[in-house]
Amino acid sequence: MINTIDPEKDVDGFHPVNVGKMVQGAGGFISATPHGIMLLLEHYHIETKGKHAVVIGRSNIVGRPMSILLSSNTEPGNCTVTICHSKTKNLKELCLQADIIVAALGKPEFLTAEMVKDGAVIVDVGITRVPDSSKKSGFRIKGDVHFEAVAPKSSWITPVPGGVGPMTIAALMKNTFYSCQQRNS
Ligand SMILES: NC(=O)c1ccc[n+]([C@@H]2O[C@H](COP(=O)([O-])OP(=O)(O)OC[C@H]3O[C@@H](n4cnc5c(N)ncnc54)[C@H](OP(=O)(O)O)[C@@H]3O)[C@@H](O)[C@H]2O)c1
Repeated sequence: MINTIDPEKDVDGFHPVNVGKMVQGAGGFISATPHGIMLLLEHYHIETKGKHAVVIGRSNIVGRPMSILLSSNTEPGNCTVTICHSKTKNLKELCLQADIIVAALGKPEFLTAEMVKDGAVIVDVGITRVPDSSKKSGFRIKGDVHFEAVAPKSSWITPVPGGVGPMTIAALMKNTFYSCQQRNS
């Protein structure tokens, strides 16, 4: 199905043409969530050059493009990246070596304080609905990071809700605007 999308209208950045361009650093549409995270890092002048980034999750829409963007010769970028997944051994040890952690695995409050070194930058991508009878909706949204425990150890941390989610929407709008501009020029 993705192959049937016109790459020039592929504002999600999922088409192989756009994935290829992203890998080559050749423009095109970058998947909205990793793109939004890069914009966030840029906006807050987070130093990434030479840092060790651990990305937890290797999906085509978040983890894998994130690892490519962070390792690109760009600013932000130029990280040394470790990409982790469900078969990764010694995840805690790897996370403890990380200057930047991007948690994108979909397991609420997975990343705990014991897995994070002091001063690390934490980007929480996770969005999971957990039952909460005190809410009218019957659920609340949880990230992949145990925010209350990890926040005091981190230098920067994105909240859930309110962090990566809105940046994903902003990046999608940016891509949509760019697509429109390209077609009208
Ligand atoms: N904020 C946003 O705008 C936004 C956008 C997209 C997604 N999300 C959220 O981000 C989360 C991830 O989304 P996704 O689409 O990337 O999910 P996904 O396709 O399910 O991928 C999850 C990844 O996490 C890995 N993983 C699972 N359990 C693990 C564990 N215990 N240790 C290490 N790695 C583990 C998996 O490894 P394997 O490959 O080995 O299975 C997989 O690579 C979800 O909560 C989703 O709702 C948020």
